[in-house]
Amino acid sequence: MIVKTSEFVTSAVKPSQYPESLPQLAFCGRSNVGKSSLINCLLNRKKLVKTSSTPGKTRLINFFIINKLFYFVDLPGYGYAKVSKKEREKWRPMIETYFKIEENLLGVTVLLDIRHNPRDEELALLEWFDQYHIPYIVVLTKADKLSKSKQMKQHKHIADILSRPKEGIIVFSAKTRKGKEQVWSTYETFFGLGEIFPEKGVLV
Ligand code: GTP
Ligand code: MG
Repeated sequence: MIVKTSEFVTSAVKPSQYPESLPQLAFCGRSNVGKSSLINCLLNRKKLVKTSSTPGKTRLINFFIINKLFYFVDLPGYGYAKVSKKEREKWRPMIETYFKIEENLLGVTVLLDIRHNPRDEELALLEWFDQYHIPYIVVLTKADKLSKSKQMKQHKHIADILSRPKEGIIVFSAKTRKGKEQVWSTYETFFGLGEIFPEKGVLV
């Protein structure tokens, strides 16, 4: 993918605030797992999306337009205890409404920290996507924090827990950029970006 332009468009909490209809790719995962860092890395931008070592940085649904053709959608992280209960209760309906209403969603990138086994709430989220026939890929973040051999071990272990082939789960690091090209090529093939924009000269 040649990313020519990437811009922040808007933040939303409800459907009336979603931007005009164009294909969308959403990013979902626990607070602090590295969603905003993955987006910056894919777009070759350092600070397009704010990242933070304080979990719970992204509280709204943030839309970024790529090459003026499709959106990346950075969803707020879930499961962070220090965010107030009131804030956490707002999360589920906000996210569920987005997934139920958004007709232009091509697929979701679900991020898991490679160092931890998926928790019940993460497994429940994946089951929920299966139930609603929402396509998703899994990206294991922060690979640079483990040795090569531990990365391979965790890759296999998490694939076993999720009952998915290892090939459908991408090992990624925003620090070393490992896995970046694999993520883009998965969007082009599995999420159909390559078919939607074959003639626009945005894909290589
Ligand atoms: P919320 O918006 O709070 O839900 O978090 P997020 O999922 O968007 O995480 P974010 O990208 O802000 O990253 C959280 C912290 O992890 C930051 O301090 C990042 O620098 C760090 N981080 C993210 N990805 C990586 C990675 O691949 N390797 C390393 N070493 N650190 C990372
Ligand atoms: Mg974020």
